[in-house]
Amino acid sequence: MDYKNVYVISTPVVNENLCILRDKNTDTMGVKCATRQITNVLLYEASKNLPQVEIEVETPLMKFKAKSIDKSLRVIISPILRAGLVFTDSASDMLPRAEIRHIGMYRDEKTLKPVWYYNKLPEKFENPKKTYVYLTDPMLATGNSLLETIRMYEGKGLNVSHIRCVCLIAAPEGIKNIKTYYPEIEIFTAAIDQGLNENGYILPGLGDAGDRIFNTVK
Ligand code: URA
Repeated sequence: MDYKNVYVISTPVVNENLCILRDKNTDTMGVKCATRQITNVLLYEASKNLPQVEIEVETPLMKFKAKSIDKSLRVIISPILRAGLVFTDSASDMLPRAEIRHIGMYRDEKTLKPVWYYNKLPEKFENPKKTYVYLTDPMLATGNSLLETIRMYEGKGLNVSHIRCVCLIAAPEGIKNIKTYYPEIEIFTAAIDQGLNENGYILPGLGDAGDRIFNTVK
């Protein structure tokens, strides 16, 4: 399996929090705290592609030239509802100028294909070269929702090399699916798991991410 352009961020802090998150006995508060630690690290890594410019900063002692994110960039975070929302607090803190553009898709339980119900993408991109997009979906399972979203952005003229997928856990099947159509897409994840079960759930995974995060397991 070709994992080119797939970055597994496997640090001690990420791994410890992933164990907490996967544990079926972890309560909602524990799930939220562990998730937040991981989303911070993943977004920090994924956003390393943002171009910087030199700006002048005046400290209480002197003026000097320093690097900072280019303010003329358009940065978009697209959480795939509902579980993708779990990235938005980290993203808004880390990239406060970013636009949060929600994608509403659910998985048809029989076909496992994504069904659109909400799309907050802009009509078109005035300056695609200056636009950077991070698609957030905690579980890269079949990859169909992410694929649909990438297609939608590409159809609006966005450069695919400016789109990055950020996921807590990825399945080999989902990575393969995305790579078949978009080999250049970069994926950031905390783990690549064994694979999918017959219902499209990632094994060992963590169960239904939306249910675990939003406390709707029962
Ligand atoms: N969505 C989830 O929430 N969990 C999985 O394992 C796969 C898809």
